[in-house]
Amino acid sequence: GGLTCGIDVGGTKIAGAVVDSHGRVLDEHRVVSPATDAEAVEDAIAELVAELGSRHELTGVGIGAAGYVDSGRKVVMFAPNVAWRDEDLGTEIQKRVGLPVVVENDANAAAWGEFTFGAAFDVDDMLMVTVGTGVGGGIVIDGELYRGGFGAAAEIGHLRVVPGGRLCGCGNRGCIEQYASGSALVKVTRGLASTPEAAALLERAGGDAAAINGPLITAAAADGDPFAIERVAEVGRWLGEAIASLTAVLDPGAVVVGGGVSEAGDLLLDPVREAFEGELTGRGHRPVLEIRAASLGNRAGVIGAADLARR
Ligand code: BGC
Ligand code: NA
Ligand code: ZN
Repeated sequence: GGLTCGIDVGGTKIAGAVVDSHGRVLDEHRVVSPATDAEAVEDAIAELVAELGSRHELTGVGIGAAGYVDSGRKVVMFAPNVAWRDEDLGTEIQKRVGLPVVVENDANAAAWGEFTFGAAFDVDDMLMVTVGTGVGGGIVIDGELYRGGFGAAAEIGHLRVVPGGRLCGCGNRGCIEQYASGSALVKVTRGLASTPEAAALLERAGGDAAAINGPLITAAAADGDPFAIERVAEVGRWLGEAIASLTAVLDPGAVVVGGGVSEAGDLLLDPVREAFEGELTGRGHRPVLEIRAASLGNRAGVIGAADLARR
């Protein structure tokens, strides 16, 4: 019983929802994230909770935050794409809204949502991969969210896939996030905008490379534009290879792919599956797990965070 509020704080937007104990969203609201200013982000979260709380009786708040959250589930120790450094987000929000607050990593929250109410409800062990501003990961082992020794497990966006490669927001080079996130997709596509292959896409963007964004690329791919299809497929191949490596370690029962870029559907997931199946160690001699689309879509994070707030 009771209603809780789930908040999903990403690099681009802040989403809030009122969720019941069956994972049903009763109300929701989203605002643009002032990601470069930690205090402004806190004010925006508190306003969002206050707005939803004025319409529903809330018993607690769960926040999925795009960063490394400590074992106490209050402090964001570090965030590659948001201005949080040792930020006691839980205490700050609790002070502002007067309700118990639990902070969890955003992708962990999404994993929990998909595991409890979504695409991975039928397995005990799962890996979630979120593809948005960054690349996030969440791991469920034996029905429990795996948080690691210090809370920062499953940071799969910072797997190094290219030695000495592109500089990442985390300070390292060659992290997969710089090749397979929504931001990377946009950056790479804009960088190729003046090549002949990109002509149709550039026209779709009104001739302005800076107007190319994720939804535009996805829409072009869905309409059959070969250049856009290849850009999305390239992201998929990076992810599929990484999922094969992670499967060598975790052997999950299923993998769920979510986040904004996953709205490309099979245009993303088929290349993920193909690369995965071509790289998995022991292939041909082990069950090939299913790589599934997130069934809660971009609500996985708020639904998961809200559920964590009632446990
Ligand atoms: C961050 C993760 C986060 C992911 C998705 C990464 O850059 O390190 O903490 O889960 O982006 O938002
Ligand atoms: Na995570
Ligand atoms: Zn990194």
